[in-house]
Amino acid sequence: MSHITDDQLLAHSDRVQGKVVVITGGANGFGKETALLFAAYGANIVIGDLDVTGAAKVVAEIKKIGGSAAWIKCNVTKFEEQVELFELAVKKFGSVDIVIPNAGVSELGTFRTVAFNKDGKPVKPSMATLEINLYGVLYTAHLATHYLRLNQKENDLKSIVFIGSVASWMAIPMGELYSGSKHAVLGIMRSLHPIMETKGIRVVCIHPFFADTAIVPTSVKLVLAGIPLTPVFRVARAIFHGASDVDMKTSGSSYLLLDNGPVFMVPKDEFKEGVYKMIDNRANAATAVLIGVKAWAFFFRDVWRITGPFILRVIVTVVLAKIAWANREWIERSVSDKIYRIAN
Ligand SMILES: NC(=O)c1ccc[n+]([C@@H]2O[C@H](COP(=O)([O-])OP(=O)(O)OC[C@H]3O[C@@H](n4cnc5c(N)ncnc54)[C@H](O)[C@@H]3O)[C@@H](O)[C@H]2O)c1
Repeated sequence: MSHITDDQLLAHSDRVQGKVVVITGGANGFGKETALLFAAYGANIVIGDLDVTGAAKVVAEIKKIGGSAAWIKCNVTKFEEQVELFELAVKKFGSVDIVIPNAGVSELGTFRTVAFNKDGKPVKPSMATLEINLYGVLYTAHLATHYLRLNQKENDLKSIVFIGSVASWMAIPMGELYSGSKHAVLGIMRSLHPIMETKGIRVVCIHPFFADTAIVPTSVKLVLAGIPLTPVFRVARAIFHGASDVDMKTSGSSYLLLDNGPVFMVPKDEFKEGVYKMIDNRANAATAVLIGVKAWAFFFRDVWRITGPFILRVIVTVVLAKIAWANREWIERSVSDKIYRIAN
C-alpha cells in the first residue's frame, strides 16, 4: 500500500485534455467537484442527474471558466435514460473516454423492521438503495463497456472509476443495504478490471470515509462531530488520478481515503492460493496469448502497410511473367504475324 500526495494525484493532468467524461450524480457533492476538476484541465463533461437545477448550475459554472459541458435528466435506475446520457456524450463530443458511476444515496427504508399488510403478512422491503447504488452502477458500467470502445484508438486514455466507500471494506452498522451495495461495487471493479485491461481500459474504485456532502444525514453528521472528515476536493483528485494514471499496472487498485490524510492506493488483489493460484495461472496465460496475438496482429498490419504495395507489384509481375512464359510460342507467333502484316 502506498500513499499519494495531493500534487501527485494531478500528475497526469495533461492526459485528460479534450477527453469526454460521463458522470452520474454530477450535480452535487463529489460528482460536482469532480466535474469541475476535470473541466479545469480541459475535459468535456456530460452530467446525468435527477437534480436538473444542480446539473444545469454545474454546466453553467464550467462554461463560465471556458470549458465544455452538457447535462441531461437521468434517473440511473432507468436503463433507457442512461442510454440517452451516453448517446448525448457521443452526439455532442464524439466519444466517451472516462466513465464515473457516482450517483448514490444513503440507506433508504428500514431494512430491520418488517412491515405487515392488512392480512398480517410481511411486506416486501424497499430495495431503493440497491436499485440506485448497485443496479444504477451496473447499468452505467455495462454501457461503459460498449461506449468506451466506440472510436477507440491505440493508447487512448479510457477508464471507469467506481465510487465505493469505506463501507466497501467495513460495514456501517444499520446500513445493511448501503454496505451491501458498496461491497458489491468493489466486487464489480475486481471482476471487471482484468478483462477491460486487455482492451486498454483502466478500472479502479475510490473508497472515501464520510465527507461533508448532502448524502450524509444530519444525524450522522452530529455523531461524527469532531472526527476528521475526508475533504471533498481530495476525493475528486483521487477520482482524477484513478482515471488518468498512465501506469496500467495500477488498474484494479482501490484508493482509500480513510480520514483527512493522504490517499492510500491498495494494489489489485494478489490472492493466489489453492485453486485461485491455478485459475490465476491459466488466466495469466490466456491474457498473455491475447496480448501476444494482438501484438502480432499489429506487427503484421504495420509490415503490410509498409511492404504490401511492393509485394503486390512483385506478385503481379511474377504471375504475368509466368503466364507470358507458358504462352511464349503463341505470343511470338502473334507478334511476328503483326510485324509481317505491318511490313506488307
Ligand atoms: N459523502 C460521503 O460521505 C461518501 C462517502 C463514501 C462514498 N460516497 C459515495 O459517493 C457518491 C456521491 O455521493 P455524494 O457524497 O457526492 O452525495 P450527494 O448527495 O452530494 O450527491 C449525490 C448525487 O447523486 C444524485 N442522485 C441520487 N440518486 C440518483 C438517481 N437515482 N439518478 C441520478 N442521480 C441520482 C443526486 O441528485 C446528487 O446529485 C455516492 O455513490 C456515495 O455513496 C459518499
